[in-house]
Amino acid sequence: MKTTLLQPVSEAAHRALFFCEPGLRVAWPTVAWFMRTRPFLTVLDRLEGLEGDVVECGVFWGRSLIPMAGALRKRGMADRKVFGLDSFNGFEEADLGEGDLGEGRTMETLRRRFKQQPRIVSDLRRVAGVLGLNVEIMPGEFSKTLPKIMDRTFCFVHLDCDIYQSYRTCLEALYPRVVPGGIILFDEYRSPVWPGATEAVDEFFSDKPEKPEPVEDPRRPGHPKFLVCKAAES
Ligand SMILES: C[S@@+](CC[C@H](N)C(=O)[O-])C[C@H]1O[C@@H](n2cnc3c(N)ncnc32)[C@H](O)[C@@H]1O
Repeated sequence: MKTTLLQPVSEAAHRALFFCEPGLRVAWPTVAWFMRTRPFLTVLDRLEGLEGDVVECGVFWGRSLIPMAGALRKRGMADRKVFGLDSFNGFEEADLGEGDLGEGRTMETLRRRFKQQPRIVSDLRRVAGVLGLNVEIMPGEFSKTLPKIMDRTFCFVHLDCDIYQSYRTCLEALYPRVVPGGIILFDEYRSPVWPGATEAVDEFFSDKPEKPEPVEDPRRPGHPKFLVCKAAES
């Protein structure tokens, strides 16, 4: 039996984010909040002319998934399916390693990092529906959900899943499915808070032609995000 590590998130936090009770229509402040632009979205300009869908591993509240789907639509890519994969229940106990202990973090704080989101899946689906976005939310452990999208190819992969084991699982499954010129963007690469992510990426790409390259975030000079651009097949 799985160990339950996480406490239910408070009603107040949930309401503050979605501005409404489940079952009610989505409020405009929620829509505006979700559609705001995020610096990493400029990377999507590089996808022009590429085939394939889009996947995010690590959705949590959807603060990157929903704006990303909106930005794809703005770029004439509304036909691409945007898959959002998350347990919505944090990490598996067995997946947490000493190598994931970043600055000021103990195993206990790592275990408590995410709280169970009892209604997040239905609320995210509702927000995506209201906005008419081509989003498919897939709740569950990556090891269970990734096999369901292995018939797809991807032009963009956003990894925002914090720990070594999750990065490894996602890279092993998704890298072969990325089209040449497609992009894998890492939220936590070189973050002192999540050293396991950096370790997993460096290890995975050590025998590959691609290496992580920085992309400047204009709002946080000196704190770039990193991505790899899939090399053309030889
Ligand atoms: C940093 S949060 C994602 C934040 C989100 N992209 C945003 O901008 O709001 C990381 C998420 O990854 C999920 N996660 C990490 N490892 C996972 C795994 N092996 N399977 C499923 N979900 C996982 C956690 O449940 C958590 O919600």
